Amino acid sequence: MLQVLDTIAATRAAIAESRLRGSIGFVPTMGALHEGHASLIQCARRECDTVVASIFVNPLQFDRPDDLERYPRSLEADLELCRRDGIHLVFAPRVSEMYPRPMEMAVDVGRLADHLCGRYRPGHFKGVATVVLKLLEIVRPDVAYFGEKDAQQLAVVRRLVTDFNVPVRIAGVPTVREADGLALSSRNQRLSTDERQLAPCLYAALKRAAVSVEKGASNVSEITRDAATAIPADDRLRLEYLELVDPEDFQPVTRVTGPVVAAGALWVGNTRLIDNVRGTPRKSA
Ligand code: PAJ
Repeated sequence: MLQVLDTIAATRAAIAESRLRGSIGFVPTMGALHEGHASLIQCARRECDTVVASIFVNPLQFDRPDDLERYPRSLEADLELCRRDGIHLVFAPRVSEMYPRPMEMAVDVGRLADHLCGRYRPGHFKGVATVVLKLLEIVRPDVAYFGEKDAQQLAVVRRLVTDFNVPVRIAGVPTVREADGLALSSRNQRLSTDERQLAPCLYAALKRAAVSVEKGASNVSEITRDAATAIPADDRLRLEYLELVDPEDFQPVTRVTGPVVAAGALWVGNTRLIDNVRGTPRKSA
């Protein structure tokens, strides 16, 4: 049976009981659930005795008010997916439950937020790290599941729990994609039919960069320039960034000497999509 709770106190009490029976897996989300979220839930079900998900559209991490307002919300359908995939408990608080008064404190994410989305979305990762720390304190899971789709977020969360000694294992889950390569995202719902057809070019560009890296290319500006040719010249498309960064600290690399993450953000009409692909130079014989 799926339990749906909206207060911190009730959630803590229910989880305290489950903890006596075994391990707790946690999948934090902002709802509008799709098969990418489902993949995290299924991993948690395989590895943990009780699986908790949170559904909370966190205002702190939105840098643009219209993005927060337009963010898709579909609680009933979300709960249906949670039931289908065997979630035990959903914590779906109101904003007033998570932030009864404005936060005075926040997590400073340091250098990890200097580039990529951190650079273009001021305050975003501070808001993510702050809510994730709160959620981890509320749920106190043994394992928490995050998607590689948001690779910079995953790096921020890994560092958060290391730096603050949060007793949880962070599990990264591979990106789930449509057949044409487009990474599943709640924001894909906003794409018109034409925009949806254009959207996979972001993955194509990142894949192109990763293949260059695998083939031994090391000049970063050559690699990214070549990768960007996969983005067609079209008024509706605007590439915000396409960069190669170090997988651990998310700092840009100047020359490829080991594994890198090719990460990109593309505006498709009024929708901003992000994706990333890992590239590892093949060892020369
Ligand atoms: P949200 O965008 O709802 O994503 C919840 C989790 O699902 C994240 O860990 C994200 O990386 C993962 N995810 C999304 N699309 C995926 C896909 N195509 N394949 C695999 N995993 C995917 O990320 C957030 O919410 C928030 O920032 C949150 C961590 C909940 C904090 O508010």
